Amino acid sequence: MMNRILATAKALETLGLGEIYLTSSLETKENQAVREDRNALLSELFSSYRDCTKCDLHRSRSQVVFGDGNPYSPIVFVGEAPGEEEDRQGRPFVGRAGQYLNRKIEEVLGLKREEVYITNVCKCRPPSNRKPTQPEIRACFPYLRKELEILSPRVICCLGATAAEGILGKNIPVTKARGKFFAYPYDSSVKVLLTYHPAYILRNPRADEQFTEDLERLRDFV
Ligand code: URA
Repeated sequence: MMNRILATAKALETLGLGEIYLTSSLETKENQAVREDRNALLSELFSSYRDCTKCDLHRSRSQVVFGDGNPYSPIVFVGEAPGEEEDRQGRPFVGRAGQYLNRKIEEVLGLKREEVYITNVCKCRPPSNRKPTQPEIRACFPYLRKELEILSPRVICCLGATAAEGILGKNIPVTKARGKFFAYPYDSSVKVLLTYHPAYILRNPRADEQFTEDLERLRDFV
């Protein structure tokens, strides 16, 4: 192989094209470095979905709301879909539920929001904050799967039943399965933890204690 490369370089040099060859092989190395950079891979993914029209949510959304945070975080939180505030600001979990989630991440895990990665199973706001439908979740899934492949977390924390269904592909009652670990169907080395959606806890403050317990199970991954 090496001999073939050297022979090619020599032949190109004879033709006066040696410099071009050298430059292009340097560019290839640079490209490889960029490929390993999760930020670059995520931006590439975001750009390819910015104008997504795979489901009807594109008609009413203001913008596609991509995940955000630290792409090297071993913990990724996955919610349901953007709400009104998220649709306006273009970032996930920035409304009341998001503020509560940020506070719990700090209190229980000792981490700032920017130190973990947060995303949703559905990237566009369903009208009137209804739950995303199965076809909407299915249309978004290839995007989420690719996003998780780039992030390669150690654990995915599903916030609520819709997130759990989107990630595990089956309907699991959160009240029964919360605090339990499952295997991510596309990579069994990645664990999936189920817990309540923060908006549910805002409506049912007594569930805060259980939410805390569930988040405590993430401490081993920090
Ligand atoms: N609820 C979600 O599930 N996701 C958000 O981004 C905001 C609220």
